[in-house]
Amino acid sequence: MKKLNEESLTLGVCYYPEHWPEEMWEDDYARMKELGFSYVRMGEFAWSIFEPEEGKFCFDLFDRAVAKAQVFGLKVILGTPTATAPAWVTKKYPDVLNATQDGISYQHGARCHTTYNSETYRELSSIIVTEMAKHYSDNPTVVGWQIDNEINCETNVFYADADHAAFREWAKKKYQTLANLNQAWGTVFWSQTYTNWEQVYLTRKTVPNSPNPHHALDEKRFISDSAFAYVKLQADILREHAPNQWITTNGMFGHLDNHKMTDELLDFYAYDSYPNFGRVIEDSSEKPLRDRKWSWNLSVVRSISPNFAIFEQQSGPGGWVNRLDQPSPKPGQLRLWTYQSIAHGADMILYFRWRTATKGTEIYWHGINDYHNQPNRRVKEIEAVSKEIKQLGKIVGSTYQVEIAYITNYDNSWDGEFDIWHGPFESKSRNAWIKALQYNHVPVDALNFNNETTLEDLSKYKVLVYSHAAIVTKQQAALFEVYVRQGGKVIFGCRSGYKDETGQTYMKALPGYLTDLVGITVEEFTRVAPFEQVPRIKFREFDELEANDFNEVLQLQADVEVLATYTNTYLKGNPALVKHNYGKGTSYYFGGVFNLDLATSLLAELQLNNYHDQFSLPEEVELSIRHKEGKDYIFLLNYSELPQEIFVKEEFTEAVTGTRIMNKVSLKPFDVLVLEP
Ligand code: GAL
Repeated sequence: MKKLNEESLTLGVCYYPEHWPEEMWEDDYARMKELGFSYVRMGEFAWSIFEPEEGKFCFDLFDRAVAKAQVFGLKVILGTPTATAPAWVTKKYPDVLNATQDGISYQHGARCHTTYNSETYRELSSIIVTEMAKHYSDNPTVVGWQIDNEINCETNVFYADADHAAFREWAKKKYQTLANLNQAWGTVFWSQTYTNWEQVYLTRKTVPNSPNPHHALDEKRFISDSAFAYVKLQADILREHAPNQWITTNGMFGHLDNHKMTDELLDFYAYDSYPNFGRVIEDSSEKPLRDRKWSWNLSVVRSISPNFAIFEQQSGPGGWVNRLDQPSPKPGQLRLWTYQSIAHGADMILYFRWRTATKGTEIYWHGINDYHNQPNRRVKEIEAVSKEIKQLGKIVGSTYQVEIAYITNYDNSWDGEFDIWHGPFESKSRNAWIKALQYNHVPVDALNFNNETTLEDLSKYKVLVYSHAAIVTKQQAALFEVYVRQGGKVIFGCRSGYKDETGQTYMKALPGYLTDLVGITVEEFTRVAPFEQVPRIKFREFDELEANDFNEVLQLQADVEVLATYTNTYLKGNPALVKHNYGKGTSYYFGGVFNLDLATSLLAELQLNNYHDQFSLPEEVELSIRHKEGKDYIFLLNYSELPQEIFVKEEFTEAVTGTRIMNKVSLKPFDVLVLEP
């Protein structure tokens, strides 16, 4: 896996020199330096400045901005500007524009209005990226490149003519013959059979709006491949013309295999972290994680790049003029979110943005500085964080300590977007598991599972959770079998193992090829209907635990232990949750959707390290550990606006101040403590 290689923890900021009078730059850079920043990211939306007219290149403004940064010892990361095609591009070449599923073109006026598959757009992108790469390759201040900006942000579906044409070619390459394509998409159903390649399109508006699901799954794979090819186009140019500067891009958005992209094209992965969304997104579930949910996002980022960069760390209240309305971070939250990123493996953090824009769509998306540019609470908080980070530089490159992984899988997540009998269950079960792990102080990794995953990848973990593994091939099931036989533990939920890679169902009892491993088949299943009694199960301390959403009746096929049975409805008395000792390991199968109580209770029997020998921690506090050269660096993060009492059972050193601590310690609201032995 590709990772960021920094020499110390570093901070920086996103800066838009083109938004400000040039007389301000010097003062801006001087204050960045005072704040201890090392990096400035710029240029990613400035195409119309770099190329105001077709073929006329103009680097003066950014040359001066970069040169001035050099005077202040700041390093520059340049963005290629292809997320914002200028008006001259779209006027002259309307074929570059993306379209809605109805085929209506997007227009100039916001950003991300183009499509990766337009040959014209690829050509125009190559030209600007080549010119920029040649121009800045020898500039010692420019250390690296960000390709485009947030690939697949704003929209992650593409329906322009160029996309339909490219999809046709993609499908030809994948299936070779129409017979194969018809087979894979099951087109015999509803007479959808294709008899000529010209009949093949991306999904279009249908009556009702329900296109063929196997086709819809391939559409997502195609979008990911298109985005990959577009990033590759730019990466190849940058590698050729700017071989001494690193390359990355910032994410993370849908319909893109970020793992493959990073492994094959980039030097490391960068993420844009906006935990404040967690405070405004509707979450009616029990004990919502709010901004702490971003710890899971950061775990996914870590599964792409174990040490990564944050290219946009939220640093103020948020909002476009018309949407994405968010509150101001409370005192302490900017510090908390910075440490949240670091605790999960970030070694470089750039705040978004230096100063709030005074014009355009993002006038309410606040940077560190306000419009008035006078010292404010947020700048002061970041100044204090920066001083602390200096003391923690040594943890750079350290690795996250973990014993359990929650499995992610692109095929299942893309298939699940369109499948109401497993897609919505995955996020419910994942939330339940992530909460259970968070509130019990058990650190968790994300593990991206695919056909290249090896036994070695799985064996790094004592326990794997794969909540609703709908698509599971014979080979994948065999790999899980070996993992468990050698001592691993794996947990599956309902709707596992019933689909092949096209998204069609096997003519087998569920859970298909997983049957031997889990020791059951599914005798029958049902969706919980609204307004009807919710089935319940008896499990351990719970006499009556709700088994919401979906219920499977399990039929024992091997010597399995029944851990829970249904207690009401016509399901009463039937097994719902089983444990199967298999080789040296154990598998668990639950014929339902996990909830917090069930995940918490199962967690208790998995015997994972929850560090209770060293600490007694309230639920509100997250524990994360980074390890380097025999030393654990323990991050304790308080997400609550109330003080929290923690109890430290061994003596530790507080890493920032060097103070020895033990026994009772009080964490202030949103406070963070970093401990070392
Ligand atoms: C990010 C994007 C930035 C800015 C920010 C706030 O997604 O990369 O350019 O738009 O959100 O909206």
